Amino acid sequence: MPFLQFNDLAKHFTEHFRRVQNCVDPRYVRPDWVARNLELERHLLPVPPADFLRHPAIRYQMFVDERVVAHELPFIRRRLPDDQLLAEDPIGDPPTTTLPDSGVRTSSNTVHQLFHLLRYEETTGRQLGDIGTVVEWGGGFGSLMRLLVRRHGGQPTCVIFDTPIFSAVQWLYLSAVLGEDGVALHSSAPVEPVAGRVNLVPIGLAMDTTVAADLFISNWALNESTSAAQHDVIVRDWFGAHSLLLAMHAGDPLTERALDRGARAVPLGDFMPGQQYLVA
Ligand SMILES: C[S@@+](CC[C@H](N)C(=O)[O-])C[C@H]1O[C@@H](n2cnc3c(N)ncnc32)[C@H](O)[C@@H]1O
Repeated sequence: MPFLQFNDLAKHFTEHFRRVQNCVDPRYVRPDWVARNLELERHLLPVPPADFLRHPAIRYQMFVDERVVAHELPFIRRRLPDDQLLAEDPIGDPPTTTLPDSGVRTSSNTVHQLFHLLRYEETTGRQLGDIGTVVEWGGGFGSLMRLLVRRHGGQPTCVIFDTPIFSAVQWLYLSAVLGEDGVALHSSAPVEPVAGRVNLVPIGLAMDTTVAADLFISNWALNESTSAAQHDVIVRDWFGAHSLLLAMHAGDPLTERALDRGARAVPLGDFMPGQQYLVA
């Protein structure tokens, strides 16, 4: 009964947000995200509505045009045994679409996130199931990490760094879809991630986090953070990750830094001109 569970979790949203609210380094956040975060905060407090994924700061930032689905789906279906991973979780009332042939309800976001994960496996020849620790910078509402955990099939140690309101949204969403025990929201330094969980770390605590990542992911997020944030991530050597999955516009100045770190640029495809992965 996901919506009963959602209602119970939603009642505790404000207290979780208050714990992390001040864990922010203002030098890291661009003005456009400061403005979006304030609007989202007003919408979600004191109790997030059941359709919280439809707020513009989420819907129009994280759900790509449904026309993209037709381009990405064949690649995904060639690599998955069935449509199980494509089935959408109803939490937050995401806009959904029906998959041809199977009738499974999915969303443009789920298809897009799975496409990123499977393109990473294809490009690197690595399986996500072999990864022990993954760090994501700017994880949206938690969608990619939800799918990474399921694709992994075990209990990877995951860390998502994001702004406090998004750390709270990720707590709500991932607690509802993975179970509260699978999630740890951190609110004080130093942060020692809990093994086998998705650790949600507001960015004010990022540089006080002890983590040695195998894989560092940031899709349209580190490039949407300030140059101070990018500088500190690079000084932290991408949290020790030997493998990278980044996505951003081709020509973004961050591209050069990822290429310096051994990544190669891979276009997403003709259906998304000018967008690239940087993969190592
Ligand atoms: C365009 S969204 C992309 C979300 C997700 N990676 C995706 O591909 O759907 C940008 C993400 O970066 C986060 N973000 C913005 N500024 C940030 C900062 N300074 N530090 C960490 N995350 C940030 C936003 O909250 C959001 O989660």
